[in-house]
Amino acid sequence: MRGSNPETVRLPEPLQDSNTSVEQALLKRRSTRTYRDGPLTLSQVSQLLWAAQGVTGRGGLRTAPSAGALYPLEIYVVAGNVDGLPQGVYYYRLSGNDLIRMVNGDKRGRLCKAALGQSSVKNAAAVMVFSAVYERVTVKYGDRGIQYVHMEAGHAAQNVCLQAVSLDMGTVVIGAFHDEAVKEVLKMSDREQPLYIIPMGRINLNVA
Ligand SMILES: Cc1cc2nc3c(=O)[nH]c(=O)nc-3n(C[C@H](O)[C@H](O)[C@H](O)COP(=O)(O)O)c2cc1C
Repeated sequence: MRGSNPETVRLPEPLQDSNTSVEQALLKRRSTRTYRDGPLTLSQVSQLLWAAQGVTGRGGLRTAPSAGALYPLEIYVVAGNVDGLPQGVYYYRLSGNDLIRMVNGDKRGRLCKAALGQSSVKNAAAVMVFSAVYERVTVKYGDRGIQYVHMEAGHAAQNVCLQAVSLDMGTVVIGAFHDEAVKEVLKMSDREQPLYIIPMGRINLNVA
């Protein structure tokens, strides 16, 4: 599924329907910290990215609400075991529906260390990371914009959690980590602040 640029991986088009109702997804959502072995498909990763920030409306409106439609969030994928996605750190480019490789190699172990050794990060097939560029919102709303950015990260993260249920996948939202260490592993720009780490894996059938 690679595009013409070897560092760019085109994502499969996301589905817009499933057999899981919103009510069922809400009922079944649970933080999952252990995962079954085996790779994720690129389609599963694509679907979870779309749930987080996919474009769904005119003028670039997205799956999650955004104060002033200013969209401060950036999304990365730390890939470890995903079919069709070499190990590395990728930036999710909405406009192209693709992933751009920023760093080569398996970085889950380093990200796990940055997240205080939480094993869910190392054991997940892939890990989604949200960062935010606060200025995009504070330029309009001042300091209150900081609150707005955090609210928005919550909306997008909940979308991922509910989408995971409908894909029979497990996720957990992680807020405990060293900011600077996460920035270093993902090679984030100075303008960005990491906000959430979201491991993604297949459900471990041995754990309720
Ligand atoms: C802001 C925030 C930060 C969190 N940070 C972590 C974390 O660092 N590690 C973790 O395993 N779970 C984390 N969680 C998940 C909570 O532990 C979990 O939601 C809670 O135990 C309730 O369980 P449930 O999600 O299964 O309903 C976080 C949740 C939120 C909302």
